[in-house]
Amino acid sequence: MKRSLLITASILILIGLVGLIVVNFFYFQPFGLKKGGFRRYPGRFGRSYDSNGEQIYFTGVSRRGSISSSGGPYWFAMHGGGCVDCHGVDGRGGRVTTMMGSFTAHDIRYSSLVKEKPPFTIDTIKRVITKGIDNKGQEVDSNMPHWNMSNRDLNDVINYLKSL
Ligand code: HEC
Repeated sequence: MKRSLLITASILILIGLVGLIVVNFFYFQPFGLKKGGFRRYPGRFGRSYDSNGEQIYFTGVSRRGSISSSGGPYWFAMHGGGCVDCHGVDGRGGRVTTMMGSFTAHDIRYSSLVKEKPPFTIDTIKRVITKGIDNKGQEVDSNMPHWNMSNRDLNDVINYLKSL
C-alpha cells in the first residue's frame, strides 16, 4: 500500500516536472526565431556578442554587471530582457504584441534618431534611455523601461546603435 502511494506520488511529480519544462520551452521561445507573437527573446540563448553595447542591446546585461530597470510592460518587469525585445534585432522597432494588447516601439538606429526633429543628441538619447524623456522634452510611452545604466554602459549602447 505504502509502496504504491510512493510510486503514484513519484509519477505525479514527474508529470509535473515534464509539464514545467514543456511550458518553459514554449514560453521563452529559446531559439528566438519567431517574429512578433506573444513574446520574443532573441537575445537570450546561445549567442556571444562582439561588444558590450551589443550584449546590453540583446540581453539587458552589461559585461560590467547587471543593469536594473523600472517600468515597462508586465512581462518585461517579470523576465527582464534587452532593447531587442521591443526595438527589434535591426533597431528599426515595430509593433510589440503582449498579452494585454500591443504598442509600437520606434526606430532607434542612431542614424534615424539624429534625423528626428529636433534631432536627438547623445545627451537626449541618454535621457530617454534613463528617464523616458524624448528629444522634445516629452515623456515617451510608459512601455519604455527606465534604465539605471552607468555612463560607460550608455556610451556602449549608443555606439552599438550607431552600427545598426
Ligand atoms: C519593453 C519594451 C522596450 C524595451 C525593452 C526598450 N524600449 Fe526603448 N522604447 C519603447 C517604447 C514603447 C518607446 C516609446 C515609443 C518610441 O518612441 O519608440 C521607446 C522609446 C525609445 C527611444 C526614443 C525613440 C524616439 O524616437 O523617441 C529610445 C532612444 C529607446 N527607446 C532606446 C532604448 C534602448 C537603448 C533600450 C535598451 C537599453 C530600450 N529602448 C529598451 C519600448 C522599449
